[in-house]
Amino acid sequence: MIIARSVLELQSALDPRDGTIGFVPTMGALHIGHRSLIDAARRENDTVVVSIFVNPTQFLPGEDLSKYPRREEADFKICELSGVDVLFYPDVSGMYGEDEVRICAPDGRGYILEGASRPGHFDGVLTVVMKLLNQVRPTRAYFGKKDAQQLALITQMVKNFFMDVEIVPMDTVREGDGLALSSRNVYLSPQERVEALKISASLKRATKQVMQGNLSAESIRQEMASILEPLNVEYIAIVNRAFESIDEVILGNTIILVAARVGTTRLIDNVWM
Ligand code: PAF
Repeated sequence: MIIARSVLELQSALDPRDGTIGFVPTMGALHIGHRSLIDAARRENDTVVVSIFVNPTQFLPGEDLSKYPRREEADFKICELSGVDVLFYPDVSGMYGEDEVRICAPDGRGYILEGASRPGHFDGVLTVVMKLLNQVRPTRAYFGKKDAQQLALITQMVKNFFMDVEIVPMDTVREGDGLALSSRNVYLSPQERVEALKISASLKRATKQVMQGNLSAESIRQEMASILEPLNVEYIAIVNRAFESIDEVILGNTIILVAARVGTTRLIDNVWM
């Protein structure tokens, strides 16, 4: 595995390669969810590139940028054992200069749900993803469905800017008890981890409701709220794949999303149906 710490090093690592490139952008603190993205990239491409970059522009003032888990050594090992060819590990000065052009999230779906709770977050995400895609020039880039709105906006950016890359959505990976894997789960105390299970439980209940034929968004939302009740819920949303609010679940075109705080930790989760 080649470790590239600058764009020049990345480009010289990738220059002589033929065939397809699968790319997994991450902020590190790799877990089994990231592994599933890397494994898919490994299966489907000749070369696999993973980036690890805790992107400062997607954190709002007062968010967890400084305490975001950083585990360089463990992450490098995981990449090596997963058959990654090139690990791109840039620093902030290699990624950002002064007074730069930025990508703006769309006024509509960039500023609802996650974008309403974290205004400006998606500008930072889209800007860094644009940079990374231009640096790596992958055939395919892999993103988790857990960050459903991020995935939708990146897919839209690639379309709007006529970029030549396939965005591959990957299913959320869960612990045995249902908790969606997230690098932020490490912030949870044992007690909070138990409380956090209410999030996946509410989504499980929503899925059951739909399977039983209850398609009413309002009644599903109420059911979910009753399970989530002790948590500090930021939103429960039922939208179509275009992130438009819907009154009835449309099978094959619905995402049910939750954002809630457990203690001071903000968690998101969703189901696609
Ligand atoms: O999902 C993440 O880990 C980040 O938002 C991403 C896509 C790597 C951009 O920093």
